[in-house]
Amino acid sequence: MANYESEIKRRRTFAIISHPDAGKTTLTEKFLLYGGAIAQAGVVKGKKNTRAATSDWMEIEKQRGISVTSSVMQFQYGGFCINILDTPGHQDFSEDTYRTLMAADSAVMVIDAAKGVEAQTRKLFKVCVMRDIPIFTFINKMDREARDPFELCEEIEKELGIDTYAVNWPIGCGKDFQGVYDRSRRRIIHFTSNGGSKAATATEIELNDPNLPELIGPARRDQLVDEVELLDGASCDFDMERVRHGKLSPVFFGSALTNFGVEPFLEDFLQMTTPPLPRRAGEEEIDSFDSGFSAFVFKIQANMNKAHRDRIAFLRVVSGRFDAEKEVSHVREGKKIRLSRPQQLMAADREIIEEAYAGDIIGVFDPGMFSIGDTLCAPGRKFQFDPIPTFAPEHFARVRPVDTLKRKQFIKGTEQIAQEGAIQIFKIPYTGMEEVIVGVVGTLQFDVFEYRLRNEYNVEIRMEQLPYEFVRWIDAYDGDVNDILLGSDGKLVEDYHGRHLLLFASQWSVNWVLDKNKSLELAEFGGTRGIDY
Ligand code: G4P
Repeated sequence: MANYESEIKRRRTFAIISHPDAGKTTLTEKFLLYGGAIAQAGVVKGKKNTRAATSDWMEIEKQRGISVTSSVMQFQYGGFCINILDTPGHQDFSEDTYRTLMAADSAVMVIDAAKGVEAQTRKLFKVCVMRDIPIFTFINKMDREARDPFELCEEIEKELGIDTYAVNWPIGCGKDFQGVYDRSRRRIIHFTSNGGSKAATATEIELNDPNLPELIGPARRDQLVDEVELLDGASCDFDMERVRHGKLSPVFFGSALTNFGVEPFLEDFLQMTTPPLPRRAGEEEIDSFDSGFSAFVFKIQANMNKAHRDRIAFLRVVSGRFDAEKEVSHVREGKKIRLSRPQQLMAADREIIEEAYAGDIIGVFDPGMFSIGDTLCAPGRKFQFDPIPTFAPEHFARVRPVDTLKRKQFIKGTEQIAQEGAIQIFKIPYTGMEEVIVGVVGTLQFDVFEYRLRNEYNVEIRMEQLPYEFVRWIDAYDGDVNDILLGSDGKLVEDYHGRHLLLFASQWSVNWVLDKNKSLELAEFGGTRGIDY
């Protein structure tokens, strides 16, 4: 096996998704501790309100103690090279979060055992399903009072429409949490809390061991035997093929904070996930073990470091080996380029790299030549990865500069931020750029947009939120789009490809307009073209 093949084989690239506070940061931190990537807890996130600035690039993030932008981390564990893509679960997250999922090969969904499936989990989950990637569930906080595990699994199945397979089963919860029963190995991992340090004390014991009743109490033991029987009889079989296609989610119970079940989860997860997956480029499928380098841009982030005023394009390496010495072909531009300052990112730390392999995420300095969805590949090859979908914004505002003399900076800043994909911009037909309609996936992006215009472009803006929540692109209409009957709460706008779209305040008005304009056909997504303004 060529060296690059063994490197690719050991790579695992996944995203962690959760609703805020479910424990994603804590779990990530424990992974990094096991991998030796960090030496102590609290590096990824400090105590409340003093959250370390590791993955908080922007001032606004620090102020709010939340992570707006997604970050990437790489670490080694048990011979694997693991890339974790962090997706902010904050309710105000952006389209960026969705795009980050495009770079992952699987997802770990963290669920709070007391709360079950929550709103942001649902949203992120939808995107994972769209890609058919494997989804692993970690039901966290078992050291606290939790809901019944059967009920939790049922909720995941019902709410998210995916089957579940409990790989392990919890024994008690809260103060009475005794550990988990590992179903395939038919043994109990009994944990003793030791305050969350690196290795939790775990004792392994068979289900039929005569000492078990003494260890966990006779009532707990009987309950466990009953539950295991019920599980074996009632749940669906473990089918790796269905896991790989995102139809069956392996479920693990544990407690990230106290280290219960984290390492067994990581180990099983690494065995169950695959090396980097292939990606489609039209008719072709580009396999990760293909010797020629290829990658796509899934995220662009400007001014990550204010002192440098730089702009970084994040690439997911799809195939082969990236060699910093060699030129690559920028397919859309039809140019050969050398990627400038390729770097691996560990939250805010950056390390210049010489090479990377399929599955890795690298950041490269972007002088303004990249757009989301761009393909890079070894010279001599020519294909374009299927574009990253544009996600429909859910909040809209009418925006204009306070000072009309700042119009130029306003346009430049707005366009650049839109190019990064942090916001989407729309025009009102027949008007200039004095005023734009900004659409975002999460309302926090409005604040980020305003903040960045002020700090990076020196423009104060006036923003008026609009009541629209739904956007539909016009796919077909017999006649002039200006004649479409819109009712009282619909609005016609244009995107920057010159395509017409309609904004609506409610699903009811979408239906009303479709009913009144029989030849009108609407699409929910803005096509799947790359974003090129
Ligand atoms: P997030 O990234 O998904 O938003 O969640 P995060 O890890 O920040 O965890 C949210 C809160 O839940 C934190 O408490 C964290 O310590 C706690 N937590 C995480 N995992 C567990 C667990 O397994 N058991 C228990 N009991 N708590 C857990 P906090 O008080 O909000 O923050 P901090 O003061 O601990 O930093």
